[in-house]
Amino acid sequence: MPLVTTTEMFKKAYDGGYAVGAFNVNNMEIVQGITEAAREQHAPLILQVSKGARAYANHTYLVKLVEAAVIECPDIPIALHLDHGPDFETCKSCIDGGFTSVMIDASSKPFAENIEITRKVVEYAHDHGVVVEAELGSLAGVEDEVNVSAEDSSYTRPEEVEEFVSKTGCDSLAIAIGTSHGAYKFTAAQCTRNEQGVLVPPPLRFDILEEVSRRLPGFPIVLHGSSSVPQEFVKMINENGGKMPDAVGIPEEQLRKAATLSVCKINIDSDLRLAMTGSIRRYFAEHPDHFDPRQYLTPARANIKAIVTHKLIDVLGCAGKA
Ligand code: G3H
Ligand code: 13P
Ligand code: ZN
Repeated sequence: MPLVTTTEMFKKAYDGGYAVGAFNVNNMEIVQGITEAAREQHAPLILQVSKGARAYANHTYLVKLVEAAVIECPDIPIALHLDHGPDFETCKSCIDGGFTSVMIDASSKPFAENIEITRKVVEYAHDHGVVVEAELGSLAGVEDEVNVSAEDSSYTRPEEVEEFVSKTGCDSLAIAIGTSHGAYKFTAAQCTRNEQGVLVPPPLRFDILEEVSRRLPGFPIVLHGSSSVPQEFVKMINENGGKMPDAVGIPEEQLRKAATLSVCKINIDSDLRLAMTGSIRRYFAEHPDHFDPRQYLTPARANIKAIVTHKLIDVLGCAGKA
């Protein structure tokens, strides 16, 4: 089947009490690791491309890699999505260039301006059969050159969501309920520590999610910053020359709970980066004489496939739902 929009995926996810995984792609091995997992698990899939990914790999290369994955995975629906579109021009370029979904992220702008920019993108996207994700509230963390400190982040205000969705016509809404981008989602001061000395983050604000859902019945909600930062990968990195002290993510059981509610799309990037980096660091440490990229990228791709398989089955609940 050709690339699809997320409309049907989200409807089924909402009704079925699961979420679709949106995984960031930057090169061939990442695309292959993710799509092999989704094909084997018969899971619907969103492959997303950030502004940074387009700058790194080039729009055409990324689109063609995703088109190759579509050919290799004829039985699962795949959407190609722009992650954190910073402005109308970037969204237009992706809409014109084969994407089936775009995010306009004007969440750092004042409410009225966010509405205005989002509505302009929605008009253009809908005229071209493309769907739009927008954002209200802002997450802490780093994405491209935007670095939002914990103090500057803000939870979504549920009382704003109806006006925002009705005035913009967006198709899904990313909200801020305590998730955060990157591998260092919380400072030690925001967390407690368990018996192993690992940081335990503050729980997500399910009260905000529930109030948003009550005000927008049937409307698909998106969670960004939803990597769990598996400690096995942090350990693998640290034991093989890396230095990632106190890297911490969102506990998987909280994401699983969100997926059973109105959250239909869950964004995961950092966990794949950790899987890839851990594998490569370990490979280099164990084989200091090897220099063929295929040798170290093979276990890296396999570990991406393994972590995505785990997410599809145990966190998102979307295995078998294609
Ligand atoms: O939300 C951000 C994603 O992890 C993409 O990261 O902007 O470094 O490509 P990036
Ligand atoms: P993580 O950094 O938690 O993987 O979040 C990714 C994301 O939200 C991409 O938009
Ligand atoms: Zn994000």
